[in-house]
Amino acid sequence: MESTTAPTKLAFSAAARAEIARLLTHYPEDRKKSALLPILHIAQAEFGGWVSPEVQDLVAEVLDIKPIEVYEVSTFYTMFNLKPVGKHVLEICRTGPCMLRGSDELTQHLERITGAKVGGGPSEDGLFTLKEVECLAACGFAPIVQVREKYYEQLDTPENVEAMLNELRNMIHRPLLPWEQTGLKHSQQ
Ligand code: FES
Repeated sequence: MESTTAPTKLAFSAAARAEIARLLTHYPEDRKKSALLPILHIAQAEFGGWVSPEVQDLVAEVLDIKPIEVYEVSTFYTMFNLKPVGKHVLEICRTGPCMLRGSDELTQHLERITGAKVGGGPSEDGLFTLKEVECLAACGFAPIVQVREKYYEQLDTPENVEAMLNELRNMIHRPLLPWEQTGLKHSQQ
């Protein structure tokens, strides 16, 4: 028998809506599209760390633009994940200075320990996705991995790698982003 329940429409949380409204005040009414990048970041944080076509359609609706205008941007920038990801996305820098300080070995080590593959899906336990990225602008502390807003530095020893993975494994909730903290403060007032 066919279900008569309509699929639930995606919606941003109140905190995200407040942040989007704040961002939109920075642009003229007829230039709302200029807020596309920060709003895609909000969408990615809101909906499990990746932007599905449905999420991108929601962003298009919020900005009153065509979905294709969102897809053009999300498929261009590597910081947007277009497939489901693990709880933690490890962005491993592979540019020259990090490479000279062992980023290839680091990548192989992380693949071995987590069971995830660079460019592939999440690890079996759902905890980790591995991605290679270009220079993270912290070359003096190479090799570097970025996880959300945090940099893990000098990952050229097994001890440092293990300390990073343990910290991530023990993280029950992801840290709140600045706009989420603001939203939380507002909702508690
Ligand atoms: S090369 Fe890795 S941070 Fe610059």
